[in-house]
Amino acid sequence: MLRLGVNIDHVATLRQARYRRLNDGEPCPVDAVRQAEAAGAHGITAHLREDRRHILDRDIWAIREAVATRLNFEMATTPEMIDIALRLKPEAVCLVPENRAEVTTEGGLNVVDQADVIADAAAALGQAGIEVSLFIDPDPAQIEATAGTGSPFIELHTGAYAEAYREEAKRTAELERLAKAAGQAKSLGLGVNAGHGLNYENTRDIFAVPHLNELNIGHSIVSRAVTIGLGQAVREMLGLMDGYPPAG
Ligand code: PXP
Repeated sequence: MLRLGVNIDHVATLRQARYRRLNDGEPCPVDAVRQAEAAGAHGITAHLREDRRHILDRDIWAIREAVATRLNFEMATTPEMIDIALRLKPEAVCLVPENRAEVTTEGGLNVVDQADVIADAAAALGQAGIEVSLFIDPDPAQIEATAGTGSPFIELHTGAYAEAYREEAKRTAELERLAKAAGQAKSLGLGVNAGHGLNYENTRDIFAVPHLNELNIGHSIVSRAVTIGLGQAVREMLGLMDGYPPAG
């Protein structure tokens, strides 16, 4: 079975667009956890970025409290985040690169160049019973290096595949790259997750990639919720406005 981890970061992005200076506001990431789990999500993914641009510290603790499935905590490999993860005790951590200028996570981790730092982080998190995965491009050298860090999982970055999707030759090439990477990871004893840029159009073709355990999907699910929920939201507001002016 292919598992779905729902990334709820963009629920917080929408809240922060309006309520950045307040301690509250809608939409609520914890409501998103409850709805995603009630709909059958196998896990919840949330990324506490160093710049706190969407998920805030108070969110991640409230999310931890609310998650009844599995919490996959996305984080940069920094002492601050490692300390938070060890206290938060998510079921899983996905180590991702972070660059303040990027709109979202843009490329995979460079494990080859930071193998020692990542291995130390993976050891500390692993000893605390947290399952560690490294978010990497489907690149043989990065997969090889991941196996050397002691991390049990990779999350294959599917962004290049998603971008190439509308051009058949490029899509086929990216799928082949992902399939080869998954095969290499499996042969090295690594579990394989995947994510980034997956949507309602391109997710089925990912079936060409073997050995997948979990897909982490965020933006397209939150976008779809807005699209299919907008009519209901308008009907509810019209219902509230109905009956004006009040009689008497
Ligand atoms: N996996 C990782 C490691 C990510 O950084 C992200 C984006 O935050 C996702 C999956 C989800 O990507 P998307 O929002 O494009 O579905």
